[in-house]
Amino acid sequence: MTITVGPAGIWEAEQLADVAAVTFPLACPPGSTRESIDAFIDEVLSHERFGEYLDDPARTILAAREDDSIVGYAMLIHGEPTDSAIAQALTLSPTLELSKMYVMPGHHGGAVSAELMSSVIALAAETGCAGIWLGVNQENLRAQRFYAKQGFAQVGTKTFTVGAEVHDDFVLERAV
Ligand SMILES: CC(C)(COP(=O)(O)OP(=O)(O)OC[C@H]1O[C@@H](n2cnc3c(N)ncnc32)[C@H](O)[C@@H]1OP(=O)(O)O)[C@@H](O)C(=O)NCCC(=O)NCCS
Repeated sequence: MTITVGPAGIWEAEQLADVAAVTFPLACPPGSTRESIDAFIDEVLSHERFGEYLDDPARTILAAREDDSIVGYAMLIHGEPTDSAIAQALTLSPTLELSKMYVMPGHHGGAVSAELMSSVIALAAETGCAGIWLGVNQENLRAQRFYAKQGFAQVGTKTFTVGAEVHDDFVLERAV
């Protein structure tokens, strides 16, 4: 099957929310409660929220498609981080935040994640960015291994709130 990656359209908000609801729990540490995960999905990953993200000129969503199905997506946030601790930890400017990077479980270990990341790096280069940064849960070893293979290195730490829980993230960065 051929995978293509390109910008998502506003008509794809519902499909993206469906992919997000399946894939977000996979990034959470084992101790997370279902209530906190569901609260995050309702508040941050709903169909309506994806509609807002797709309408926001400060964000780009790249979708990986197999035929008509979205099998993974990446959300980028343009501009410098608003959190001063993160801004201080980063070494490259201008930067692009890789805010979300999620691939459907049936496609893990395949070409989708690498193709999405190639498109993320191409977008960063096209928009004149020197670096890309992201946060990854400290217990998410699969994602950390993927990002290390893609040239990311740790530059700091931060927290990430999921419902009633505060999770610990690493902040990673790579040059474009
Ligand atoms: C993160 C993600 C996009 C990476 O895509 P992927 O297709 O799984 O990535 P790859 O298979 O190329 O790389 C994962 C690596 O982790 C390894 N790995 C898998 N499970 C692991 C584990 N429990 N501990 C350590 N390494 C692990 C794999 O073997 C592979 O390394 P290798 O290529 O050296 O063998 C995908 O796994 C995903 O969507 N996960 C769920 C959501 C998520 O965690 N998103 C990231 C949020 S920051």
